[in-house]
Amino acid sequence: MKKFKTAVVGAGFIGAAHIEALRRLGNIEVVALCDKFNSEKKAKDLFIDKSYSDYKKMIDEIEIDFIHICTPNNTHFEIAKYAMDNDINVVLEKPMTFTVNEAKILTELANSKNLINAINFHNRLYPTNIHIKNMIETNEIGNIIMINGEYLQDWLLYDTDYSWRLNSKESGLTRTVADIGSHWMDLVEYLTGLKIVEVFAEFKTQYTKRKKPLGVTESFTTQASKNFKEIDIDTEDIAFVLFKFDNGSIGNVTLSQMSAGNKNNLTVNISGTKASINWSLVDLENIKVGYRDKPNEIIPKDFAITNDAITAIDFPSGHTEGFPDAIKQVFKEIYLQSKIKHYATFKDGLRQMILCEKIYESAQKNTWIQISSN
Ligand SMILES: NC(=O)c1ccc[n+]([C@@H]2O[C@H](COP(=O)([O-])OP(=O)(O)OC[C@H]3O[C@@H](n4cnc5c(N)ncnc54)[C@H](O)[C@@H]3O)[C@@H](O)[C@H]2O)c1
Repeated sequence: MKKFKTAVVGAGFIGAAHIEALRRLGNIEVVALCDKFNSEKKAKDLFIDKSYSDYKKMIDEIEIDFIHICTPNNTHFEIAKYAMDNDINVVLEKPMTFTVNEAKILTELANSKNLINAINFHNRLYPTNIHIKNMIETNEIGNIIMINGEYLQDWLLYDTDYSWRLNSKESGLTRTVADIGSHWMDLVEYLTGLKIVEVFAEFKTQYTKRKKPLGVTESFTTQASKNFKEIDIDTEDIAFVLFKFDNGSIGNVTLSQMSAGNKNNLTVNISGTKASINWSLVDLENIKVGYRDKPNEIIPKDFAITNDAITAIDFPSGHTEGFPDAIKQVFKEIYLQSKIKHYATFKDGLRQMILCEKIYESAQKNTWIQISSN
């Protein structure tokens, strides 16, 4: 089997998770790491031989098959474009880019060059979610009537909490919507095969000023700094979004990064004419199926499953496969060149960029906004 050489750009929270997941597969060597800050130390800590602080220098100097881009959103485009211009396959973190136009350019470039392109919407790759997709495709829940849910976190609860995400110059037009809402919307469209055709949104920014620590802060740091500078916040902490789907059904999601006690709570409820489904990241190995006329069921991840979900199960039932495993499953599909492909591509990333932009427009104009197909 071919061995691939891969480089990772951005060694913060998710970059380290990419490196770990890549190493769990046998046919990949992580040959270099690029980070703007402390690249040498980060590479040493992660046992990577070569380190760079400039991604162009790295791409010019070494031979790689893939690049994984795990940097703040405003840098995704330039790094991915430079890599693809050099014929390198790209795995990009979500949200895909800073603007819709950038996402369009990258999607066209990847297609014209026939390069492998992926967005790490890893929630799709939990075996239970692949199973739910199969249940919906085989009409086990009937026609979908409504979809609702939430994605709640608490790591930006205090005004002393800081991340580059808070600044629209690094994050993009939306923050909470692009950061966690994109995961929810991608998952819902993936599970149901439905498309969101209209959105209506209400945003709330609790702190219009926050205390930015002096120095470098990585994501999910909850320690308050004594040395800070007060900065203006122009992105939303909380968003409520209403949806209309292309089969006539309706839905809504509550998104918040300020809901105490909710560490990473993505929940989806899908109500059909025969049954309903509940899936949540806080109990990700179990699908809850609700019925009107017979007792409800819980379907756990299990080797006995006979649909595509089986390809994403590496450990027996009762042995939890969580966040690092779902990321590994995304990379497994890509690097083992699996015939079964559930992972998200640039086309899906572009779709989410369009949805985020329309949701922002709705919140500004206080009206329903239609989504044209992409
Ligand atoms: N799929 C997921 O579940 C998931 C989870 C977290 C983050 N993300 C996405 O991953 C990306 C990174 O987020 P994070 O939480 O890891 O951020 P982070 O702040 O923890 O890490 C970002 C890293 O990128 C480095 N960096 C910044 N600019 C750079 C540049 N121009 N060149 C090289 N390195 C640079 C920083 O020094 C830092 O080490 C974002 O797009 C985010 O939305 C996705």
